[in-house]
Amino acid sequence: MKASRFAYLLWGMIILTSMGLTNCRYDNYNDSYGNVNACDTSAVTFSQDIKMIIGQNCEGCHNGASTSGGLNLAGYQNISASALSGGIMDRVTRSAGDPLLMPPGQALSDCDQSKLRTWMNEGAPNN
Ligand code: HEC
Repeated sequence: MKASRFAYLLWGMIILTSMGLTNCRYDNYNDSYGNVNACDTSAVTFSQDIKMIIGQNCEGCHNGASTSGGLNLAGYQNISASALSGGIMDRVTRSAGDPLLMPPGQALSDCDQSKLRTWMNEGAPNN
């Protein structure tokens, strides 16, 4: 009798533990809405994610030669400075139709915004 009680306890612990892990997995907004292209923000880095997001969506207008609004977003130093000042997040999270939205007229995907936010919350590291 004692042995089977122990087995129940063990299973209980296993089930509770797996429920706990499942909950963590579903913290992610896109996962919980069943997005097949789930947005993975668990390991965002400057070199793998941020550099590309800014390069593809912002650098065309914000680079060494063309500094729209006086802003250069080429390279880590410039990007991190603007990120930490709050400038980037302020502009990319504006609503559609807001003339201050960046990139102008075409918001970044929710996933790219999440990645930027994650990286900035980590202190905008050069990783
Ligand atoms: C098509 C050109 C274009 C693209 C692409 C673009 N911007 Fe801009 N951006 C501008 C212009 C023009 C201004 C100046 C007018 C204004 O402040 O809205 C500006 C201003 C800004 C400012 C304010 C600068 C300041 O100090 O006042 C920020 C921050 C900014 N952009 C961030 C971004 C980010 C981040 C992206 C990419 C996600 C981006 N921009 C993409 C043209 C662009």
